[in-house]
Amino acid sequence: MHLLLVILFFLEAQFCVQSSDSNSPAGENLATNGLPFPWSKVRLPSYIVPVHYHLLIHPNLTTLRFNGSVKIEIDVKNNTNWVVLHSKNLKIFTATVLDEHEAHLSDKVLSVLEYPSHEQIAIFSPKILTSGEKYFLYLEFGAPLSDGFYGFYKSTYKTKAGETRVLASTHFEPTSARMALPCFDEPIFKANYTVRIRRGPSHIALSNMPLEQTVEIGNGLFEDQFEVSVRMSSYLLAFIVCDFRSVSGMTATGINITIYAVPEKWHQTHYALEAALRLLEFYEQYFNILYPLPKLDLIAIPDFQAGAMENWGLTTYRETSLLYDPDISSASDKLWVTMVIGHELAHQWFGNLVTMEWWNDIWLNEGFARYMEFVSLEAVYPELKVEDHFLDTCFGAIGRDSLNSSRPISSLAENPAQIEEMFDTVSYDKGACILHMLRNFLTNEGFQSGIIRYLHRFKYSNARNEDLWDSLIKTCSEEEFTAGEYCYSSTQATKNAYRFAGEHIDLKKMMYTWTLQKGIPLITVKRQGRKLYIGQERFLKIVLPDDPSWHSLQEGYLWHIPLTYKTSHSDYEMKHILTTKSDVLTLDEEVDWVKLNSDMNGYYIVHYDEEGWNALTELLRINHTALSFKDRASLIHNAFQLVTAGRLSLNRALDLIGYLKSETHNVPLLQGLGYLQSFYKMIEKRNIADITHNLKTYILQYFRDVIDKQSWSDDGMVSDRRLREEVLSLACDFDYPPCLEKAKHLYNSWVESNGAISLPTDVSETVYMVGAQDDSGWAYLLEKYGVSMCETEKSKFLSALASSKDSEKLSRLLQLGMDGTLIKTQNLPSLIYLVAKNPVGHFLAWDFVKKHWDELVEKFPLGSFGIRNIIVGTVTQFSSTEELREVGCSFVVLKGMIICFDGSFTALLFVLFV
Ligand code: BES
Ligand code: ZN
Repeated sequence: MHLLLVILFFLEAQFCVQSSDSNSPAGENLATNGLPFPWSKVRLPSYIVPVHYHLLIHPNLTTLRFNGSVKIEIDVKNNTNWVVLHSKNLKIFTATVLDEHEAHLSDKVLSVLEYPSHEQIAIFSPKILTSGEKYFLYLEFGAPLSDGFYGFYKSTYKTKAGETRVLASTHFEPTSARMALPCFDEPIFKANYTVRIRRGPSHIALSNMPLEQTVEIGNGLFEDQFEVSVRMSSYLLAFIVCDFRSVSGMTATGINITIYAVPEKWHQTHYALEAALRLLEFYEQYFNILYPLPKLDLIAIPDFQAGAMENWGLTTYRETSLLYDPDISSASDKLWVTMVIGHELAHQWFGNLVTMEWWNDIWLNEGFARYMEFVSLEAVYPELKVEDHFLDTCFGAIGRDSLNSSRPISSLAENPAQIEEMFDTVSYDKGACILHMLRNFLTNEGFQSGIIRYLHRFKYSNARNEDLWDSLIKTCSEEEFTAGEYCYSSTQATKNAYRFAGEHIDLKKMMYTWTLQKGIPLITVKRQGRKLYIGQERFLKIVLPDDPSWHSLQEGYLWHIPLTYKTSHSDYEMKHILTTKSDVLTLDEEVDWVKLNSDMNGYYIVHYDEEGWNALTELLRINHTALSFKDRASLIHNAFQLVTAGRLSLNRALDLIGYLKSETHNVPLLQGLGYLQSFYKMIEKRNIADITHNLKTYILQYFRDVIDKQSWSDDGMVSDRRLREEVLSLACDFDYPPCLEKAKHLYNSWVESNGAISLPTDVSETVYMVGAQDDSGWAYLLEKYGVSMCETEKSKFLSALASSKDSEKLSRLLQLGMDGTLIKTQNLPSLIYLVAKNPVGHFLAWDFVKKHWDELVEKFPLGSFGIRNIIVGTVTQFSSTEELREVGCSFVVLKGMIICFDGSFTALLFVLFV
């Protein structure tokens, strides 16, 4: 029951806004010592503003504690005699207030009130702090280094010789700076930071800024003092004490870039250096603003909850997100490292230089950074073909956004758990997809000059959703406007109008329909002669037009949709903006087919009438290259989405993908394969041998040619290599004999050489999986897991180990993950997912989650990436009625699908085919 509540909380987070806090009068809330706490809101008062932090911090890597002091220069905007700021799990030893000459306002040590449920403390000043005057707040504090992944936390690694070493690192976003120092921990409070760190002689200290000087302070200790930072939000502060090795290089503009890793992984850092140098240079040009710090570090931390973090000047990464070993890592690993670096470096502008005012607009950071991964890699690494993956980003967003439980891109978030939940596919992926739609609408140049304007306007400051839309287009005179310039006219009549395909558009109004309203539109198209009858509605899974709740769920939903389409008679894109529920377009001539949403650059799904689908199915069959690979992939995607929404029959979708036998592009192939595989996975669990076998044969007939064509090597472009990785893994998973034989052969030679020969990196995971199926192979891989010095290799071993069909072995793995020594706790969520997707393991994983729920939540707090992956990883494997009942669903079976609602009938948990 407990778990169910959490799942529902997670899905319905947008309705659970805490309201009592902001309304209760001051004084009702009691501090830990029983005295009234002077502030009742979750957010800090705005009339005390931090200006400059002087921080001294000393982590002791033997006692695993840290002590620190902070002197904060504050600006007082209203007279007051108390200061409220954030602090979490810190012991405050002393607190004083100093005047502008740094004289104490009182001889007495001031009392500090603590209000843990808001993670706040209050300090009373003996004298009124007067508006307009300058003061300093001085606090001394200490705490154990945190055991998890937030605040100032402990991380460990093992050397080849078996020695365990400790380091201390920070992760603050969104609300954990307060675990390392008392501070004003909200993004709007930008300040300068001067950091000093104490350390022993065998360690180095790092922070956002370059080292200014080191002083020996006795007792074998050193104090490193760092240059004063630029103005930034508290969540971007970072410091690390470790014994890592590094490589450095300099950009053309003189920025010193350094990659750090544990000493024995030093040789895996070189690729990241090259990528960071090239990507930073790209961003400086693209944004037309130089990177403002003298240095940028990228460091691989052995224990890391997320994938990476953009701390200004000191970006931190999970080892798999930064380290690349050319002999062991695969093509996908390389792409991943490059994308993560592209993402974190984009944040140095989007997020660090310009920050959202509050977490409700976190998409301004994350949506942009996700989108810039694609823009930057396309420009800097065209050979990686990153554009092949962009559609997957939008497909992921659509998966979530077509459920009623989705949320608008900008939505309310007040307390830390709600804030943490904002880092989801809506902020990241939907954010990126609507930016892509906007860029296609404004043209690349228009988009780029718009965001340059935005960055200049808000640098070192904060912005909201509307500020972005206001900055995107320059204002111009009526004459310029009439002459067709891309600009807003400043005259009243056409104010905020923007010219698009000859029409005048209000861009802000248009973008509000995408950011303030949840969901994704479905465009319906009926063709009669030269007329196209177009309609828009909200695309929803589960609720069909004949359902009583249909109308209320549609009510009020309307988007301004930039439509594009191609026809059999036009090889260029036609454009039209749809701002009403329905519209009629007239084509120049009669055509054989129409395909809307060219290259799926727009964030909407398209449903054609019977003839429309027939014409496109026929076109794919006869001449599929008449459509771009993105158009082909999006047709497959749209068709299957419509199937899961009960709007198109499964047979129609299967007809559409019938052409895949002649498809050679990896994107549509993998799209089709993905849907077929998800059917297979569901059937496989039902243990009906003949159906499983028939389905396997059915799927293999589509892909046998592609499989047979593959070489077991690393040859070819990244896209060829990714296709090889996927189809060979599928072939062996389906027990396709030629695949098993080849994999077994490679596995044996690898074992015989005791791991000395290197396997082709793209197929190594498949080879290990085949090897892990017997006792000795499994034991050998576990042993290799324990000694490998390459995290990407280890993740392939782990995935092979978790594919064993022996449930005892799977239980042992989960136990090892819980224990956290051989398998690090950071890898537990993905291990649980790996076990859950194994047909033998899915109950096991679920039982494990239920049994260890309390411990799991302790390791991965509610709202965190970790716990969300654990929940989603296990429950999405469910498809039988018993399983759905297990997670407390009330469900209905409708038109060949199982549909699962939560108790309140507002959120859909699953839609599954039966
Ligand atoms: N700013 C985030 C890190 C973060 C995530 C902080 C969640 C707080 C909560 C960082 O820029 C990010 O987006 N990291 C991604 C990496 C990815 C984009 C490649 C992550 O951790 O998954
Ligand atoms: Zn990010």
